[in-house]
Order: sequence, then structure tokens, then C-alpha cells
Amino acid sequence: MLFNTKLTIMKFTNKLKTIGLGFAAILLVFNLFAGDPENTKEVNMEKFDIHVFPALPYAYDALEPYIDARTMEIHYDRHHRAYFNNFIAAIKGTQLDKSTIEQIFAKVSEAGDAVRNNGGGFYNHVIFWNNLSSGSGAPSVELTEAINKTFGSFEKFKEAFDNSAKTRFGSGWAWLYVTPDKKLAVGSTPNQDNPLMDVSPIKGKPLLALDVWEHAYYLKYQNKRPEYIAAFWNVVNWDEVNRRYKEAMK
Ligand SMILES: [Fe+2]
Repeated sequence: MLFNTKLTIMKFTNKLKTIGLGFAAILLVFNLFAGDPENTKEVNMEKFDIHVFPALPYAYDALEPYIDARTMEIHYDRHHRAYFNNFIAAIKGTQLDKSTIEQIFAKVSEAGDAVRNNGGGFYNHVIFWNNLSSGSGAPSVELTEAINKTFGSFEKFKEAFDNSAKTRFGSGWAWLYVTPDKKLAVGSTPNQDNPLMDVSPIKGKPLLALDVWEHAYYLKYQNKRPEYIAAFWNVVNWDEVNRRYKEAMK
């Protein structure tokens, strides 16, 4: 009787061990998958997750005819993904792995070119995808007032933004941003720099980004950057720009 009870307990314990190992294996697979840079999820921009490659918020052809599907696919799935993967590789095993993107950019001059270029490439494109949309909306009352106060009119703001985008030599980005003293400003940055970086001469919180790298427009517009910039205004997601403005002014 005692022997049988002992045997039953041993069998039960072994079963528990098997279940435990199986559970651990499932957890391991789940964690490996969660850390896989190929994994894509929606990302909440208010809590920017540096370890998540976000899903494109629309189909590749959603911004046709202004931005063509082929360009969108290559831009998102090749260029943006490569920046993300290289960024993750550059911060892996370092203190930066546990930092927020804002913390990384605030001291990016100490982090090295791989973090600066790929971290910027990752972040800037997320801002860019989210400030594009097929239904473009309109600037909020608050943002309109600030635009009029800063630039004189919406047309003058557009002109200033366009000039920043057109005159950026080589590759880079044009920005509408809120300065540290809560003023609106437009400007541009080279390569994958942005106004959150300590190396940038323009500083603030990005509201609206325009990618002026040739990879963003060459297939459709070739060397005609001004035509691409003009088309961009048809697909600005003003709801998102309004949300960022509200957030930046808090
Ligand atoms: Fe790009």
C-alpha cells in the first residue's frame, strides 16, 4: 500500500516536471518570437517602443497616386526594416537597450554613428508613416492659430516647410516641430538626424516629418523632388499632427 502510494507520488512528480519543462519551452519560444525584429505590431507613439518594428498603418497602395505602392513597399519593408534591425543590433547588450528613444537621442553624440544613423532611421520613419494618411483632415483650431502667429498664414508656413525640404542638400528630413520654449518652427536635418538629437542644430519635438531621401520618391518622381513635396501635402494626416501638437504643448 505504502509502496503503491510512493509510486503514484513519483509518477505525479515526474508528470509535473514534464509539464513544467513543456511550459518553460513554450515561454522560451514566445520570448524568442517577441524579441524577433521581424515581428511587427502596432505601436503607440506616445509610448514609443524601441524594440518593436511597427506595422505600416495602411496598405502599400493607400497613398496612391501621390506615393506609389512600389515605393511604399521598398521604403517600409527594406529601408525602414533595415534601420530597425541595425539599430537593435547596435544597442543589444548595452545600457541603451533599457533606455527610451528620447533618452538615447538626448545623448546620441556619445552613442556612436551606428546608433545615430539607424536609431534616427527607425524613429523618423515611424513619425513619417504616422503623419501620412489617405484622408488628410485639417489642422486643429489651436494649431492653425499657432501657424498663423508664427508664419503669418498657412500658405506661408507651407512655403517655409517646402523651402526646408527643397534646400536640404543630399539626403535628410524636413520638420515642423515645437521648440523647447513651445514655439512652432520649421527646419531640416541631414541624413537620419532629427530635432530630438543633441547633435542637431534645430531642437524640439517633431510634429510633421517629410523624408527627402531619394529612396522616398525616385521611382515615381526621379530627380523632381519639388513635385514629390507638392504631392506630400495631399496625404498629410492632420489628425496625427494635431495630436502631436497637443502632446508637445503639455
Ligand atoms: Fe526613408
